[in-house]
Amino acid sequence: MKKHPLYVGVMAGLLSLATTLPLQAANESVAPTAVAQSQQQDAIESQIQQLLTQMSTQEKIGQLALRDWGTFGAADMKVIKQAVREGRVGGFLNVNFSSVDQNAFEELQRIAVEESPLGVPLLFGQDVIHGYETIFPIPLGQAASWNPQLIKDGARVAAQEASADGIRWTFAPMIDISRDPRWGRIAETLGEDPYLTSTLGVAMVEGFQSDNLADPTSLAACGKHFAGYGAAEGGRDYNSAYIPERLLRDIYLPPFKASIDAGMQSIMSTYSTLNDVPGTGSPFLFKQILRDEWGFDGFVVSDWNAVMEMVPHGFARDAKHAATLAANAGIDMEMHTDTYEKFLPQLMDEGKFSEAQLDTAVANILRVKLRLDLWNHPYPRATSKAERDQIIRNDQFLNTAKAAAKETFVLLKNDNQVLPLKKGQSVAVIGPLADAAHDQLGTWIYNGDKKYSHTLLPALRDMVGDDGEILFAAGLDYSRDISTRGFRAALKAAKKADVILFVGGEEAILSGEGHSRGDIRLPGAQAELVAELAKTGKPLAMVLMAGRPLQLDQTLEQADAVMMAWHPGTMAGPALADVLYGETSPSGRLPLSWPVGAGQIPIYYNHLATGRPATDDNYTRIDKIGREVFQHQPGNSSNQLDYGHKPQFPFGYGLTYSTFEYSNLVLSSRELDGDGQLTISATLTNAGKVSATETAQLYVRDLVGSVSRPVRELKGFERITLAPGESREVDFTLKASQLAFHNAQMQPVIEPGEFRVWVAPDAESGLEGGFTLR
Ligand code: NOJ
Repeated sequence: MKKHPLYVGVMAGLLSLATTLPLQAANESVAPTAVAQSQQQDAIESQIQQLLTQMSTQEKIGQLALRDWGTFGAADMKVIKQAVREGRVGGFLNVNFSSVDQNAFEELQRIAVEESPLGVPLLFGQDVIHGYETIFPIPLGQAASWNPQLIKDGARVAAQEASADGIRWTFAPMIDISRDPRWGRIAETLGEDPYLTSTLGVAMVEGFQSDNLADPTSLAACGKHFAGYGAAEGGRDYNSAYIPERLLRDIYLPPFKASIDAGMQSIMSTYSTLNDVPGTGSPFLFKQILRDEWGFDGFVVSDWNAVMEMVPHGFARDAKHAATLAANAGIDMEMHTDTYEKFLPQLMDEGKFSEAQLDTAVANILRVKLRLDLWNHPYPRATSKAERDQIIRNDQFLNTAKAAAKETFVLLKNDNQVLPLKKGQSVAVIGPLADAAHDQLGTWIYNGDKKYSHTLLPALRDMVGDDGEILFAAGLDYSRDISTRGFRAALKAAKKADVILFVGGEEAILSGEGHSRGDIRLPGAQAELVAELAKTGKPLAMVLMAGRPLQLDQTLEQADAVMMAWHPGTMAGPALADVLYGETSPSGRLPLSWPVGAGQIPIYYNHLATGRPATDDNYTRIDKIGREVFQHQPGNSSNQLDYGHKPQFPFGYGLTYSTFEYSNLVLSSRELDGDGQLTISATLTNAGKVSATETAQLYVRDLVGSVSRPVRELKGFERITLAPGESREVDFTLKASQLAFHNAQMQPVIEPGEFRVWVAPDAESGLEGGFTLR
């Protein structure tokens, strides 16, 4: 391989370190010790300085450019290669999803390394959101596992597959908090709660990045979208977000802070405005909070085209102004558009952006490239097709994806123990998603391919073998199908069977970016089909696949059992078959509040009490209100006459095939000092007949504060598997520091006073105790 002399110089610098520092030693999978890490940091900083002194302004600006084929208009490979050769590109995104050359990783990198002025390797980024080729459940589904290890394992698999192709950076985790299931991108979130999202987001970062970024299987993670994207008004994607700073700091920002503390290397800006300022132009977010308050030392990338979108936002006059705003806000890398390349030189001449600022942005990017050890591992990890084939979708990865999916299913209802299905039964499988190889994969599957999907129908047939019968009639071709043509065949199958299994929900395309809904009911004629099936009087179980919770209306009454499966990914079928037939009990828990209907949104468990909290009996339901009654007679409390005051299913909720009893709540003390901690324990007993996993949840309420405090806040959780009849104590440690919040002056405070505490199966119930914070 021909190397440019400067490249050799940089390499020599790194290689001389390799003799003393484990990070660059041959054994890449060994995590560096703290001392070695700090020596490594120093070495990286001096490498950055060395590179900066050798770089021209154009090369520096080149490092800030994250390109895709679209940036180059005509998408002529010659033009693209020339830009790389001239050092005008820092990285590419979504290369193998492009239409020009899906295998360009190696060639582009070779040009960067061998022919560009300083040989700085390109960074290849991609939306590896829930798996690369082995598709895992959508993030919202993964969040329903409440299992950080599962999420970490999934991200590790994705990283190993993506790095085989040369990708070393993923645009994940999405750690936007959302309280709005109309928003299509809720499918990509980890739910509504800051504690759960922080815990699971950190797990995802750890899985992608491993404990050694220099390991060639590691991907740098990118937390997105900073900040407030999930609060899009009306659930319409890209819409304005209005979040008071206190709420921003207590609810929306903690997952970012936690992920950065866990070593996350990059952050993506939001498309939306936050309190009227586009995120991509917000020094408050990127300078004040991210750098000054949190000390983040990775890099910030704009979202795709987000710099230019400040023009339609009415915040930037034109491209040059947009570049000024983004660069001065602290956006280091520009995704897709080329306003930095075009205008930063001029802005520097005009004194609107300084060389020092440019150096800082370049340093932030080089730091991550050096930490990834791209100089030693610039190329795709798989050096041949055979090697690639051994990595991609190997049996171990598929098994990990299946194991993950099994823990994401949330059993919402199970009357008369219709589930699990019993061998020997005849089952009529009906519905548009029972054999939907594409739709079970969910949103964001650039590299997912339906031809590798294992769907439910054949998995049920495998499960049953000769011991039972699986009849099938889809009834509807796809989730939005409104034709009732298939109903007859479906009903015929239903009448012949002992039990009906309806598999419906939403196609993959109905959630994800830009795919919000105003009406979150079952699309198409599904509700009608379920109503017809219910009329047969046969036991009716329902599996839902969707990127969001759905308004179920009368379907919920008509079905005896309902299991939410989200979009479970490649291994949906075998995972579902295992759980439906009781080989494993369902163990998923809702990572968000499931609304009765769209008109109830936003509904979330950690709300304030209001001055007139609703209870089950302080207001009158719409159908019980007499005509022309006195105005106050139905009651005045915070509710909706039709939907009531509670969600359909609360945050944290989920059934198993067993039942669990909570008893004996014990607090290690009734008092807690501002720097102390409490142990809160309870006994869990599996009171049912099968082994199952319960997720015990710890909630607190601060009764009186200098600002009103939420009715409950999650502070811990633990999954516990118990055999029938088995009991175990679950212990939670609650630190006083976990009770901190931001007061009206935006200071983080722990205020003395009375607290309630619950150990609970969900956000609405549980054993209750209390303590005083001194
Ligand atoms: C736009 C999306 O908002 C972001 O999440 C994604 O990573 C980029 N496009 C790149 O595809």
